[in-house]
Amino acid sequence: MTRLDWEEIRYLIAAEKSFVLHAPRQTGKTSTLLAMMDVLNQSGEYTALYMGVESAQAARNDVAGGMKAIVGSLVEGAANRLKDVRLREWRESVWEIHAEFGAFRELLSRWAKDNDKPIVLMIDEVDALVGDTLISLLRQLRDGYIGRPGVPFAQSVILCGVRDVRDYRIHTSHNEIITGGSAFNIKAESLRMGSFSQAETEALYAQHIAETGQVFDPAIFPELWEDTHGQPWLVNAMGHELTWKDKAARDRSTPITLEQYRAARERLIYSRATHLDQLADKLREPRVHAVISRLLAGNALATGDMPSDDLLYVEDLGLIRRFPVMEIANRIYREVIPRELTYST
Ligand SMILES: Nc1ncnc2c1ncn2[C@@H]1O[C@H](COP(=O)(O)OP(=O)(O)OP(=O)(O)O)[C@@H](O)[C@H]1O
Ligand SMILES: [Mg+2]
Repeated sequence: MTRLDWEEIRYLIAAEKSFVLHAPRQTGKTSTLLAMMDVLNQSGEYTALYMGVESAQAARNDVAGGMKAIVGSLVEGAANRLKDVRLREWRESVWEIHAEFGAFRELLSRWAKDNDKPIVLMIDEVDALVGDTLISLLRQLRDGYIGRPGVPFAQSVILCGVRDVRDYRIHTSHNEIITGGSAFNIKAESLRMGSFSQAETEALYAQHIAETGQVFDPAIFPELWEDTHGQPWLVNAMGHELTWKDKAARDRSTPITLEQYRAARERLIYSRATHLDQLADKLREPRVHAVISRLLAGNALATGDMPSDDLLYVEDLGLIRRFPVMEIANRIYREVIPRELTYST
């Protein structure tokens, strides 16, 4: 996979740096983190743990509830994924003393001190958190980070989500707006994970072809690239439509023609798949709406006067590409989006 610079990641971890990894929805963030966790654990150099924080989402500005859920993910993650139950033993006493503003940091610190290998922690879906809970998490990570090496802490923390957490504007319950960058305040790298390249997209289909012997008309591949530009969900969903949803094609001696490809593409576009529905949700946000409607009006230059923050946001969501020219990210989105815009306006 060329989508991530593994060298860079290994370097950052070895250099004890924390960093942000972000990519649009359904690009393989979670799969990548889980794979990274296994690789790091197998290397024998680190203890790596993946944890999600969606469970804290419902707590919103209830920091105690939110942090309790996050501490729970850490403790149970270590127990279930690593068979390390020490955190379960420490949890209660640490929470009694440090509670929502320090228990997470303190548990990580205690774990780092007691563990024979440095700890790499991957926190997924950070953007599920909002408000005071997110600020508390970021500040505890920062406190732990800057307290080293005097006070043990994780070797590296990887924050993962759709957006670069340093760009978030976080609304506190006191009506302040704090940026993620100032709360996290770690001079950390931010890596963006891309979509598949054209070669990777074709390699994925080549795997199916090699396994089943099914014949694909080569004329399909340039179309597939235009349609998806390597967006991983679209690439997988097109494959599924072509070789499974089309019942005749389940018989692997049935060759896949360009005509079948076109029919599969139409079915996908009209399928109301969740991924495509999520695009529609995003279009309800005024700043997304503004950028997209200008692009659809056919004038990429007209976006020149738009706040670059908004453009970056829409790019982070995976809706547009900015290089070599600014445009909607792929041909399927270009068809789905106008339809959604007319529905939602
Ligand atoms: N290396 C890969 N090869 C093939 N398919 C992949 C690869 N990585 C991800 N995918 C596909 O992309 C989809 C999304 O994967 P995953 O859940 O890891 O992404 P995500 O970015 O965490 O998504 P979300 O934004 O919903 O959390 C999955 O359906 C998976 O099949
Ligand atoms: Mg995910």
